[in-house]
Amino acid sequence: MLRTDTPVSIKLEEYTPYPFEIDEVALDFSLDPKATRVKTKMKVRRTADGAFVLDGVKLTLNEIRLNGKALRDSDYTRDDEKLTIKTVPDEFTLETDVTIDPSSNTALSGLYISGGRFCSQCEATGFRYITYWPDRPDVMSRFHVRMDADKSKYPILLSNGTPGDSGDHSDGRHYAEWDDPHPKPSYLFALCAGDYDVWRDTFTTMNGDHVDLGVYVDKGQATSAEWAMESLKASMKWDEERFARAYDLGVFNIVAVRDFNFGAMENKGLNIFNSAYVLASQESATDADFEAIESIVGHEYFHNWTGNRITCRDWFQLCLKEGLTVFRDQEFSSDLRSRPVQRIKDVMGLRARQFAEDAGPLAHPVRPDKYGSIENLYTATVYSKGAELIRALTVLIGMDAFDKGMQIYFDEFDGTASTIEDFYGCFEKASGKDLSQFRRWYAQAGTPSVRIDEDWNGDTSTLTLSLRQSTPATPGETDKQPVPIPLRAALLDGKGGHIDADGWQNGEGVIVLDTETKTVELKLPQGSDKPLLSVNRQFSAPVHIDRDLSNEQLLELAASETDPFNIWDNFQTLARSEIFRLLDNPQSPPDEALISALADAVRSNESDPAFAALLTVLPDIGELFQHRDPVDPAGLSDARKRLRKALGENLKSDAERILAEPSPAPFEPNAEQAGIRSLRTAMIGLTGALDTPDAARKLKALFDAAPNMTESLACLRTLVPFKTSEREDAISTFYERWKDNPLVIDKWFAVQAGQGTAEDARRLSEHQDFDLSNPNRVRSVAAAFAMTNLAAFHARDGEGHKVIADIALDTDPRNPALAARLLTSFEQWRKLEPVAKASAERTLKSLQAASLSKNTMDILARALD
Ligand code: TRP
Ligand code: ZN
Repeated sequence: MLRTDTPVSIKLEEYTPYPFEIDEVALDFSLDPKATRVKTKMKVRRTADGAFVLDGVKLTLNEIRLNGKALRDSDYTRDDEKLTIKTVPDEFTLETDVTIDPSSNTALSGLYISGGRFCSQCEATGFRYITYWPDRPDVMSRFHVRMDADKSKYPILLSNGTPGDSGDHSDGRHYAEWDDPHPKPSYLFALCAGDYDVWRDTFTTMNGDHVDLGVYVDKGQATSAEWAMESLKASMKWDEERFARAYDLGVFNIVAVRDFNFGAMENKGLNIFNSAYVLASQESATDADFEAIESIVGHEYFHNWTGNRITCRDWFQLCLKEGLTVFRDQEFSSDLRSRPVQRIKDVMGLRARQFAEDAGPLAHPVRPDKYGSIENLYTATVYSKGAELIRALTVLIGMDAFDKGMQIYFDEFDGTASTIEDFYGCFEKASGKDLSQFRRWYAQAGTPSVRIDEDWNGDTSTLTLSLRQSTPATPGETDKQPVPIPLRAALLDGKGGHIDADGWQNGEGVIVLDTETKTVELKLPQGSDKPLLSVNRQFSAPVHIDRDLSNEQLLELAASETDPFNIWDNFQTLARSEIFRLLDNPQSPPDEALISALADAVRSNESDPAFAALLTVLPDIGELFQHRDPVDPAGLSDARKRLRKALGENLKSDAERILAEPSPAPFEPNAEQAGIRSLRTAMIGLTGALDTPDAARKLKALFDAAPNMTESLACLRTLVPFKTSEREDAISTFYERWKDNPLVIDKWFAVQAGQGTAEDARRLSEHQDFDLSNPNRVRSVAAAFAMTNLAAFHARDGEGHKVIADIALDTDPRNPALAARLLTSFEQWRKLEPVAKASAERTLKSLQAASLSKNTMDILARALD
């Protein structure tokens, strides 16, 4: 039977304030894995008319007391999700007593057990699995927490804020109290209890306040927390220097857990992290791991101001904290490392994931106005496009006005649950500009395209640009309004310099395309030669740029560019059209002129190895998808490989030279060394692209001698597609060496699933170390396969679709959020060539016919709509 009922949706326009305030709450936990008792005492005050309704799911209710008096069954009503007390006074104390079962919580939302320890995840709606509460971000209270637990099993008891009283009971149990003086919504509540090793440090804020820092990890792993700690201190300092924001409690703790649905969570004073983003030892972590830890530690720390001190009024405003905080973490990484390299990496991610999302059936605005399941709203659009919009705002109003607006925001909205309108009001004040049109960016899905035509008049030295924007229709939105698109631009003289147009400074200007079409006349000094237009420099706006440039013109532009982002991007444009040309002409050899220009660019940038390495990365299949309809992923992957092989041949002797040099020693995880290693791993990859027996032998020798995980994993990744004995040797050696380190084994799974066939992915999902209850492990097979191996996932025989459907079916009953996310990998299905398209549709429909979770049904309904 087919389900036709679409899940009910929640709408922004239906927002009403909660009619009560709860200034204080005391939570008392008696921790036991199977039966944890939670007693909650809240002080409630009526602020408007309305019923007193609390959220609560899967709670065993023992008792409710109102002003000390136990309520009878007839005093309240209760269903699977809510508790309503029929009549309440205007001020009262409510006490509830419930029992929960953390040991059976496989969804990892609420209080659960990971690695034998208690931990919690309350965003977005996990708190309702812990106790009865108005579980919405606009209800903010001061939390007092007391917990007791078996002392030998759970010697460390943590919650938000700062520690208070603690001590032992006579029965082998002990207790601890924590107080958080800052009012917060329930989604920021956290509790951890267990036995950990701790890496400690301290920080003194710019106000002279002392902060005790701790990173809590598995026993025996304390030193693997050192990098996370260094990243935390760097984050604290950066937010003081860049945004004048200091930390506001005497304690800041991070706890690493192995079973976690996301990257990390910004609970006030007690961040909980997926252990993949905390643990890093020199031997077992790659440079990408060190970089990700730094950026995610920063992200969660920065939430203390953008998210916690100022939170969201409702979940439609999610981008208020997430887009802004991603922008902040990107800036942090740019300041600590290389700004252009950071920008390129961020745009690569944006194009591969967010542009893809925006072009498919799951497209939605950065601030949606309805949703079926809140957990499905933690998307690339909310996070990455949300960050891009903040960046575009900085270009539109200038960095000084942006900084001023941020200070207004921090001052005026501290302690509140706010909206995007509140936020933009601050920048209107700071800049004196009306930003109502800019806010359309938040209301409209889809990636705009900007068409640019040029006309040069040599007699008057005038370059006339005709600009036109258009945004394709997205689900439920056919009529798109023009948005203000700030395009950084420069006029290049072809000799490494700029030509100043009227009104520009240092040869650079910002063109704001705020109507559907616009003509811009750039007046150059009399007698100028025709300039080359460099546009959307630093990727100032998240749009597609569409220009009629020949390959020769693009190469000339790349050679004249002064913006590193655009140098890289010009080659991306060239490579993209070359891959499509190769796809359409299977017999044609790759374009020599392009290959040698690209190889020359790599060579001439060797002094900036991280940048040179990025030049060797050809556009991702997921990104190429967006430029063709219908699309044959296997054909694309093949064409991409041919181009990569040609590049590898051209750079063969450079690769040999670079790889003959020793890797930097002693190992440091800093940006400088990471850059050198990234060029080395790029050369490892290009050596593999040659696809010769000799290459396999070389790579195996490099693998055997690899002095660090970055290079070891790069060799393994490069050997996996070979069909020679070196492949099997490397796979088994690596496994034997690392089988006791789950984070490394996750990578071992991912490099195989990311490059193998559906059969390989299925075999990996049946491996003894595959574990459906661990999201990292599930993702290391299923997400690596479905999201990074599109040729195999969308293979015509439909086997790729089947493997993912089977894993999702197994995952869904335990962890709906994880299953739903895996299925977003089908988002591009309508663009597939007919055979794979039919298979995808069949697969999605058969999943829809199974009785699955609300999260999963929401994704399926939208994907099939
Ligand atoms: N707020 C978290 C972040 O971006 C995201 C997050 C962590 C999350 N865990 C979650 C969101 C669970 C939903 C459900 O920093
Ligand atoms: Zn976040």
